[in-house]
Amino acid sequence: MMYFVTGNKGKFAEAQAIFGDLVQKNIGYIEIQADSLEEVASYGMKEVTARLDGPVMIEDAGLFIDALKGFPGVYSAYVFDTIGNQGILRLMEGVSNRGASFRSVVGYAEPEMEPRLFRGELKGRINFEPRGQGGFGYDPIFDVDGKTVAEMSIPEKNKISHRAGSMHALKEWLDSR
Ligand code: IMP
Repeated sequence: MMYFVTGNKGKFAEAQAIFGDLVQKNIGYIEIQADSLEEVASYGMKEVTARLDGPVMIEDAGLFIDALKGFPGVYSAYVFDTIGNQGILRLMEGVSNRGASFRSVVGYAEPEMEPRLFRGELKGRINFEPRGQGGFGYDPIFDVDGKTVAEMSIPEKNKISHRAGSMHALKEWLDSR
């Protein structure tokens, strides 16, 4: 059993397909304003390990657009809540370099253990219009080989995604001990 501290149902569903025995804890933690997902996750780990007794995981993710020099990056949640996918598409109007990546950083710790971080990345392209009903967040505008992530099932997304990458890295580390 492991706790996953998140309020995001989509993230939890993806994580559960990877770990199985997972308990969602929607207790929140402060996401500091920092330059990297690693710093946000490290700081978050301090808070959740102080409040939960047991193996605990958190995950911080972001969308990094090449032509926008990595924006929205660590501001992805705020940007999604304010301008959303339509706002991103507007910023990308007339931009031919559509390259982007999703990045994920997982933080994990057990009681009396120094937290560890695990990373994952998915490279793709910003689509010209939103497509698909699955997933969440920026999935409808993120295209991988002609298909948006929102057009993928959870098992399909979990074969390639940034989150699957960071979570499988954690899983491998857990299994290797
Ligand atoms: P956070 O990791 O919850 O801070 O997520 C940052 C922002 O990126 C939120 O607006 C999420 O909806 C979005 N996001 C995180 N992971 C994904 C994903 O797998 N697909 C699409 N959007 C995501």
